[in-house]
Amino acid sequence: MIRATHHFPKGFLWGTATSSHQVEGGNQANDWWAWETETGRISEGQRSGRACEWWDGRWEEDLDRAAESGQNAHRLSIEWSRIEPEPGKWDTDALDRYEQIITGALERGLMPMVTLHHFTNPGWFLEQGGWTERGGVERFEQYAAKVVERLKDRVALWVTINEPNVYAYNAYSSGLFPPGEQDLQKTIQVMVNMTRAHAAAYRAIHTIQPEALVGLAHHYRGMRPSRSYHPLDRLVTGLRSSAFNDAIPRAIRDGSFRLLWHWERIPEAKGTQDFVGLNYYTEEEVAFSPSNPTELFGQGQFSPQADLSPTGFIANQPEGFWRALTWAHAFRLPIYVTENGADDPYGGFRPRYLAGHIRQLWRATNLSWQVGGYFHWSLVDNFEWERGWTQRWGLWALDPETQVRTKRPSADFFAEICRENGLSSDMVARYAPEALSKLFPVDDPGQLAAGASF
Ligand code: FCB
Repeated sequence: MIRATHHFPKGFLWGTATSSHQVEGGNQANDWWAWETETGRISEGQRSGRACEWWDGRWEEDLDRAAESGQNAHRLSIEWSRIEPEPGKWDTDALDRYEQIITGALERGLMPMVTLHHFTNPGWFLEQGGWTERGGVERFEQYAAKVVERLKDRVALWVTINEPNVYAYNAYSSGLFPPGEQDLQKTIQVMVNMTRAHAAAYRAIHTIQPEALVGLAHHYRGMRPSRSYHPLDRLVTGLRSSAFNDAIPRAIRDGSFRLLWHWERIPEAKGTQDFVGLNYYTEEEVAFSPSNPTELFGQGQFSPQADLSPTGFIANQPEGFWRALTWAHAFRLPIYVTENGADDPYGGFRPRYLAGHIRQLWRATNLSWQVGGYFHWSLVDNFEWERGWTQRWGLWALDPETQVRTKRPSADFFAEICRENGLSSDMVARYAPEALSKLFPVDDPGQLAAGASF
C-alpha cells in the first residue's frame, strides 16, 4: 500500500490546552463560582465543583498522560483569583503551586505555554467594575508582573489574555458569562480595556523577561455569506467579521481600535505581539437578519450540508481553518495554534475533525509559514462554561463524579501524530477511514508513485 506522510518541521510543538477554572476545581474566589450557583446560568444546573481535581494534584496524572502519548508541550492558565484573592494581597502558596505544576510539565518534556487570563476574574475585580473600568488595566499588569517574576525561569511562551473578543461578547452582549450584561457600548469598552491590558502586560513581561515570546490567544470564527451573491449577506458578514475577528488584532498591529462607530487610538498597543495565537474551531454562514440588531443584523448558522459534532455546536470545516491560518499569516509573525478541537463524547466525529484540520495545518507549514505548534482542546473532559459538562472535549473522557479517566480513540490518533511529527494516510485509514479519500486522494496510484501532487 502506498503510504503518504505529511511531515511537520523539526521542533514543532504538539500539545493540548486547558484552563485553570475548567480543570482545577474549587475556584471559589472567582466570578464563575458564584455565577454557577445562580439558577438558569449553566446547562442542567451543573457546577465546576471539583472539575478535574488538578488543584488537588491530579495535574500529575494528566500531564503523565500527555507526555506518555508523545506530546511535547502543554498550554495551561493561571487563576488570577488564586494569586490575588484580595486586592493587593498576594498568595505565595498559590504561586508555589503553579511553579510546581510548571516544573512538573518541564520534567515530563512538556514545554509550557502559560495564559494569564482565561475568562475568569477575581470576584473583587468584578465588583470594582471589572473590565469596563480603565483601572482594571493596571490591576492586570500588576498581577501579570507578579506571576512572570516568579515563573520567568521556567516559561518562555506567554499568552496574556485568552479570547478577549469571546469574553467581551459573552459577558457583555449575549450575557452568557458573568456579569451577564447585554450592552453593546460596554462590550466595546471591555474590548478596548482588554487591548490596553494586553499591551501593558506585554510590556511588563518583556521588561522582566526580555527574551520571552508573548501573544494573545485570538478566537477566529470563520464567517462566509450565506448567499454569496447577496449584497446584504455580504455586508453583514463583513461587519460581524470585522467586529469579532479583526478589531482587537488590528489594534495590536496598528495601535488603532475601530469597531462600528467607535474609533480610538491605543498607541501603546502597537506591535505588542511576538506571535499570533490562533484559536479556531469552526466556520459559519451569515445571513442578513433585520430583526437581529444586537447581532449586527446578521444571523449565523451552519450550512445544511455541514458535518456537525453530536451536539451540533461545531461544524467540521477544515477549509475554514485554512482561511483562518491565511488570516493569521497576514500578520507576518510566527503562529501558534493555541486551540482547536471539537466536542464529541462518542468518538465518531473527533478523529476526522482532527485529521482534516491537521492536514490544513500541514499545508501552511509546507508553504514555510512559521507555524510553531498546535494545542488541541483538550486533554481530558472539563467544565465547559455555560454548557457545563454537557459537552465533552477531551482526548480522555472524564467522569467528574468518580474522576475516572478513559482514553478515547482520538487520544491514540493524536499520539501517533505527535510521535511521527506528521499525519500519514495510514493513520487516517485506521482512525478516520471515512476521511481518507478526501485527505489523501489518489485517482491513479501510479501517478502518485511518480510524484504527482495530491
Ligand atoms: C474556547 C475556550 C475554551 C473552551 C473551548 C471549547 O472558546 O477558550 O476555554 O471553552 O472554547
